Amino acid sequence: MSAETAERRYGDFYTHQPESPTLRRIYRDVYADDYPDELEPFGFVTRRDLARFGELLALRGGDLLVDIGCGRGGPGISVAKAAGARLLGLDVVASAVAGAGRLATALGLPDAEFRQASFTDTGLPGRGCDAVMSVDALWMVWNKPAAVTEVARVLRPGGRFVFTTWEPAYLDHARMLAKAGFTVEAREETAGWLERQRAVYEAILANRERLEEELGPGAEVILAEARDTPAVLADTPRVLLAAVLSG
Ligand SMILES: C[S@@+](CC[C@H](N)C(=O)[O-])C[C@H]1O[C@@H](n2cnc3c(N)ncnc32)[C@H](O)[C@@H]1O
Repeated sequence: MSAETAERRYGDFYTHQPESPTLRRIYRDVYADDYPDELEPFGFVTRRDLARFGELLALRGGDLLVDIGCGRGGPGISVAKAAGARLLGLDVVASAVAGAGRLATALGLPDAEFRQASFTDTGLPGRGCDAVMSVDALWMVWNKPAAVTEVARVLRPGGRFVFTTWEPAYLDHARMLAKAGFTVEAREETAGWLERQRAVYEAILANRERLEEELGPGAEVILAEARDTPAVLADTPRVLLAAVLSG
């Protein structure tokens, strides 16, 4: 999705997200202890996912981790903090990155940096970072091969790219990664994703009025997703992929 489209769709959502206890409660009810509530994520990330990101990224202390499509930054903050890594978060939506700085300070990673930039044009120098992660954002990018090529450009050789996204049958992320110079180390469906995602969408639709009150125009983006996505969900698994850059 272009920067303008993402800003239009998600700007209002991120501005009002901290004021919506209902959305948080929905995720807490469905995910129970696996929901990383304190990270204020926007999406379906779990504590188990974050542990897997940590294992597969294999960060060393001081490494530079870039989180693309970081939203309000929570998942990247958690992974970087656990590994003693430095963090740079990128997202196309201005209100997301503004909120991310505040969250990083609250979560004890005040040196983390956040910038407005896109998956396909990060503005970063070549070979400048040790690892790239992305949680539930690549599915939104129109030109996915360009995004993967950009990640290959900014990573150092041997650096890892770990991400979650949804993979319909016509989309082969492993092939796309190989074409950009990566070797795929893992591709797995995330545990329990289908039942949980369905349950979240049902609860969002059941709480429509309250969400509209709390999120204002920002509610529309999640209501539309909750209405339109279930029909394709069973054939569109949520996957976690890990790849290492050759060279
Ligand atoms: C579902 S949210 C996930 C946010 C965050 N990773 C999390 O788990 O809380 C997807 C994010 O991708 C961002 N996004 C969409 N298109 C993008 C692009 N082309 N480049 C960078 N970020 C993008 C959106 O603004 C949104 O913040």
